[in-house]
Order: sequence, then structure tokens, then C-alpha cells
Amino acid sequence: MSQIAFLLNGDLVRLSDVTPTTTLLDWLREERGLTGTKEGCNEGDCGACTVMVTDAGGARAVNACILFLPQLHRRAVRTVEGIAGPNGQLHPVQRAMVDHHGSQCGFCTPGFIVSMATAHLNGRRDFDDQLAGNLCRCTGYAPIVRAAEAAADRPSPDWMVDDLTRIDDADPNGDRVLVARTADELAAWYRNHPSATLVGGATDVGLWVTKQFRPLGDVAFLSGIDDLKQIDIGDDEVRIGAAATLSDIGEAIAPLHPDFAELIRRYGSVQVRNAATIGGNIANGSPIGDGPPALIALGARLHLRRGDDRRAIPLEKFFLDYGKQDRQPGEFVEAVSFPRQADRLKCYKLSKRFDQDISAVCGCFNISVEGGTVKAARIAFGGMAGIPKRATSVEAALTGKTWTADTVAATWDAWAEDFTPLSDMRASGGYRLDAARNLLTRYFLEDIGGRTRVLEVGP
Ligand SMILES: Cc1cc2nc3c(=O)[nH]c(=O)nc-3n(C[C@H](O)[C@H](O)[C@H](O)COP(=O)(O)OP(=O)(O)OC[C@H]3O[C@@H](n4cnc5c(N)ncnc54)[C@H](O)[C@@H]3O)c2cc1C
Ligand code: FES
Ligand code: FES
Repeated sequence: MSQIAFLLNGDLVRLSDVTPTTTLLDWLREERGLTGTKEGCNEGDCGACTVMVTDAGGARAVNACILFLPQLHRRAVRTVEGIAGPNGQLHPVQRAMVDHHGSQCGFCTPGFIVSMATAHLNGRRDFDDQLAGNLCRCTGYAPIVRAAEAAADRPSPDWMVDDLTRIDDADPNGDRVLVARTADELAAWYRNHPSATLVGGATDVGLWVTKQFRPLGDVAFLSGIDDLKQIDIGDDEVRIGAAATLSDIGEAIAPLHPDFAELIRRYGSVQVRNAATIGGNIANGSPIGDGPPALIALGARLHLRRGDDRRAIPLEKFFLDYGKQDRQPGEFVEAVSFPRQADRLKCYKLSKRFDQDISAVCGCFNISVEGGTVKAARIAFGGMAGIPKRATSVEAALTGKTWTADTVAATWDAWAEDFTPLSDMRASGGYRLDAARNLLTRYFLEDIGGRTRVLEVGP
């Protein structure tokens, strides 16, 4: 790989012969001596390593521990050392953290400061969400959130807003590494390097490196491919490029399917959603990924490409078996699309923790009812089988029936025909099956205006 170029705290950095799996965190601490960025978990969970990355799409908080250096090419990075002004002036969020006693041992504080400064720059005031990816063990969140609130109305300092002006066009590609700029470039290269590892946001692949010490061999980075990041909301169809991040999808989808957006809000943390792509979430074939159940319930098709050959399949058909997907060597996910439709989608994520947790069960229901009769039903689950899976027997048991509590109750046996869930550390098989049945009841009750939330149920 010849050269990558990015801005680090306002200064242009060019690196030659970078090992493509060097993480930004290791490089900052070991090569640059920028030790303000901390290593806590080294797997995207704690936010101690949060940095701000800016590109044409704006400024985003991401975890440096699972961010590979080539992913920074033509972007600007700010570490905690670049949040204060050039003459040491404190950023408003730093001043407020001092004033509101937002730091005790201080280990988490740099990560919080970067998340807070990014939220501040973006005018975000949903601090519970913005800070859910930063763990603090000793101060407690109340003083930290008070500090974020106190700084919110102060203007962003000048030094925070002029990133991205001096990125040049160095060519980073070598024979074994591709930092692709277009889908065509990726398609041609990947066809000739079919055993290469594709890296979208690296929120899975990063852990293969930091936790499993796995060599990746040839690598192609997708985060610079703008034409794979497009989200097109047409009159008839919604099409989402494979490299679109979960953050961008959540924002774009909210007006159409608010429950899908709410599910995405529960997906990892801000830092994870800012990096993770829908292509990676589908291609990893995880049985507990949150994207596939919602997309399958919406009737999504997956668009695959190998060289110039393209094909599209129903998304559920992509998942053949645990760890096995319908993808040929040299073939990549280009996009996912689904019909534009009236919103009947509800998504339920059950996890041990509300924020920043993997689903034990994720159920998505899309049931249309006309004149009191179920016209069509698409129901898909994660966490109920070795793959994301449709509940076809339950769908059949509902379709054409009157939309009543009795019809819902009559699907009891069909659930066991569709699913034989496993027991693991997240939930027992029995819990999963009962929860899935109950979620249909919940969908029904919500649909007819019944009360389902504990806080709403009164005497
Ligand atoms: C702290 C943390 C929390 C998480 N929380 C959640 C959660 O709540 N819900 C959830 O569903 N997931 C969660 N994840 C898992 C992960 O974020 C998702 O699976 C994510 O969407 C993967 O996307 P990525 O772009 O980061 O994939 P990568 O890590 O870049 O790649 C994942 C896999 O997909 C392949 N790939 C990537 N793009 C393509 C493509 N276009 N075509 C073909 N193959 C491709 C890669 O080669 C690799 O095999 C979490 C991860 C972390 C670290
Ligand atoms: S070190 Fe914990 S998220 Fe990076
Ligand atoms: S101040 Fe100690 S972990 Fe947050």
C-alpha cells in the first residue's frame, strides 16, 4: 500500500507502507505518543477510545480501537488532544465538565469529551443516546449529562469547524490492499482477489484482529465508496447502498418506518452505528444481527455483484445455514432494497440491557389488515434460529383470518413449527419461544390501541 493521507488534529499526516490492520488507537498511542485516547475493552464497547472523524458526511464519534488506519484516508481525525484550542483554551464541554464535577478517576473522561464535543458540534441534545457508548464506572452519568446540557448553548470554537479543508488525493492502493473509491473499482479488484477480506465499518472485522489476532490477507476497504453509501427513497422502492452506515439509515428511514429507526437507536452505540454498515450487518450472516429481521419483514431484496454480473434475491434466501450464506467468491453485497409501502412495521428488540446490547430476540412484524381481515403478513426473527428467519407457518396461520385476539392465540402451535430456538447465555430456548408468541400479542394490542407498556397500564 503506497500512501494514505488524513488530518490529525488539524495537521496533515501522510503515511507510507501502512500495515492495513493497524488500528488508529495503537498508532496514536504507540507511534504518535497521543495517549489521551484510552484503551479500555479494545472491542468497541466502552468508548474510552472515542475519536471524532470528519468527512463530507459530517463529524462523527467512532471507536479508534476498531478503526483501521486506511479507513481514515481523506478524512480528518480529532483526538482528545485536538479538542482544546491551540493555545490551551478549553472547549465549552471541557469547561463544563470541570464546573460540574464530571470526572473522578478520569479514565473515561477523554472519550466522554470527544463524544460530547462531537454532539456539541452537531447540535445534538439527546445526551442519553449520544453518551450511551461511553462507560463511566465512578462519576455516574448525572454530572456528565449536566455538563453536556450546560455547554449546549455555547458556540462551537473556531478550531473545531475548519477540518477537511486540506485533504489531498494521495493514491493509497497497492496490490494486496484496496481503498476503493467506486463500486466498479471494488468489483474489478475483488473479482481478481476473491479470497480478500472486505471491510465495511470494521465493527466485526476489527474484533477479528484485536481479539482473535487473525491475519486478514488481502483487504479491501469500503468506507470511501460514495456510490455504495447512497440511500434512495423513491416512489416505489427504497434502496440502501451496502456501505451506508446504520446512523445514516436510521435518519433516512425514520419518516417511513419509525419503528425501524427506533430499533437502530438500540443498535450498539453512537460510535458503533457511525461505523457499522448494513452490508456488513447482512454479509456477516449473524443470527442475531438486528438489520435483517426488519428488512426481511419489509420484503427486502439483496443485490449482489461479482465483476459486472449482478443478481438480486429475497434477503431471507441469502441466509442458508448457520455461518453459510449464498455468496460466491468475489461477490459482494451492493445494496438492499424494499418496496415503498404503508407503515405497518413494528420491531421489538429484547436484550438484557436497553442500550448497547446484542439482541436475545429481535422480532419484526409487518401485518396488513383490510376490513378486519389479515391481508398479508411478513414476520421475521433474529435469535430464534441459526439464521435470521421468517415465521412462515405463523404468517400462513394469520393470512386471510379475521384480525382478532382469537386468531392471534390460534397461532400458538405454528410458532413451534417455525422455530426451535437454542438456549445460550442470552436466553433459554423456552423464553425465546414464549417471547416471540407474546410479541405477536403485543403487536396486536398496539394495533388495536391497547396498552402494552408497563408504565401505561393502570388500575
Ligand atoms: C460494541 C458493538 C456493539 C454491536 N451491537 C450490535 C447490535 O446492537 N446489533 C447488531 O446487529 N450488531 C451489532 N454489532 C455487530 C456489528 O456492528 C454489525 O454486525 C455491523 O453491522 C457490521 O457492519 P460493519 O460494516 O462494521 O462490518 P465489517 O466488520 O466491516 O464486516 C463484517 C462482515 O461483512 C463482510 N462485509 C462487509 N461489507 C460487505 C459487503 N458490502 N459485501 C460483502 N461482504 C461484506 C466482511 O468481510 C465481514 O465478513 C455490534 C458490534 C460491536 C463491536
Ligand atoms: S477501547 Fe473500549 S471502545 Fe475502544
Ligand atoms: S471517571 Fe472513572 S470511569 Fe468515569
